[in-house]
Amino acid sequence: MSSPHKIGLIGAGNISEAYLKLAPLFPNTKIVAVADIAPAAAKARADQFGVAALTVDELLKDPEIDTVINLTIPSAHYEISHAILSAGKHAYSEKPFALSVDDGKKLVAEADARGVKLGSAPDTFLGGGGQTARKLIDEGKIGRVISGTMHVMSHGMEAWHPNPGFFFQPGGGPILDLGPYYIASLVNLIGPVSHVTAFASKGFEERLVTAEGPLKGKTVPVGTPTTINAVLEFRTGAQVTLAASWDVWKHGHVNPIELYGTEGSMLVPDPNFFGGTVQYSERNGDYIPVDTSGAPFGKGNWNGGHANYRMLGVADMLDAAESGREPRCSGRVALHALDVMVSILEAAVSRQVITLSTTTERPAPLTEEDAVRLTTAR
Ligand SMILES: NC(=O)c1ccc[n+]([C@@H]2O[C@H](COP(=O)([O-])OP(=O)(O)OC[C@H]3O[C@@H](n4cnc5c(N)ncnc54)[C@H](O)[C@@H]3O)[C@@H](O)[C@H]2O)c1
Repeated sequence: MSSPHKIGLIGAGNISEAYLKLAPLFPNTKIVAVADIAPAAAKARADQFGVAALTVDELLKDPEIDTVINLTIPSAHYEISHAILSAGKHAYSEKPFALSVDDGKKLVAEADARGVKLGSAPDTFLGGGGQTARKLIDEGKIGRVISGTMHVMSHGMEAWHPNPGFFFQPGGGPILDLGPYYIASLVNLIGPVSHVTAFASKGFEERLVTAEGPLKGKTVPVGTPTTINAVLEFRTGAQVTLAASWDVWKHGHVNPIELYGTEGSMLVPDPNFFGGTVQYSERNGDYIPVDTSGAPFGKGNWNGGHANYRMLGVADMLDAAESGREPRCSGRVALHALDVMVSILEAAVSRQVITLSTTTERPAPLTEEDAVRLTTAR
């Protein structure tokens, strides 16, 4: 039996709890230490899970730790991921992978040069919902995808996150914060994007924090667009509109992603989650629902009953390191998704159509066999 990879987390905030809770599902992973720029945050999270609290420097120098997960805020992602790779360790970042395409390219080059693996959230498209949709598309159930729509709308993050300032600064906003789920989902289903164009605006100059915590009742400034309407053209020729806004109190778009093909239509479940029901039609027939709770990583296991298998992308990356293959949630997929998002924001400023400078392969489908291997003690 081979021993699990010893993993350190950098960034002991809100999402670190989910990574620590879910890691035991994947026997090739073992989180052994947590670090944070704020030592008290690292200690609190480390004590909660009985792991070591280290400084960032100590964690990066620890020879026992071969993999580090970057759970810092978006503006620190590049610097921390670069430091992890420079320490000769596999790096997996929360999204967005970096804030500029140049920085993303540097990370991919650094990982290649050092012979270590680089991965990035989201890994939600590896869940039952994303993989079932992928299988149905690959089987030709809706034919060739001609077009589609994506809607990601709410009234922002200030009602639930105790420290929501970063969401409203460059690196945040609905495109860079939630866009990664949507773009990765469509790269999985349709493949890479070739061109984008967009319009964008800020609905409000500041946001009132209503979440419990020290900032409750205070306002945070808005330094990035919060309403964006974009069109994406995929290399296949498919055109998909993306309407992303944190300025919307209420809307009627119940299906976050709809795809329209030559032989039918598909309603893809929320790419923010791992499970959900996929629906597709044969031409204009009734929708045929496909429950994905029996598919790998589709079963409800989290607060509110939804499927949450964060750490699946990390487990797949480490499995890839062992067999020498490309991880499914690879730096290259994340770089392309970043290029799409940054180009959308650039197009909204320049009012031009942007030709992307990157491309990627569709990640390999995650089979039942892969799921068994990733969840079985070795
Ligand atoms: N909160 C969620 O539900 C959620 C879900 C999915 C993805 N994410 C992503 O995870 C990342 C973290 O989100 P969060 O909600 O946990 O944020 P958070 O603000 O709660 O925590 C971030 C932590 O990173 C630390 N940090 C910041 N800069 C650092 C640096 N240079 N070195 C070391 N530590 C540093 C902070 O002190 C803080 O403890 C973000 O990229 C976010 O988009 C969050």
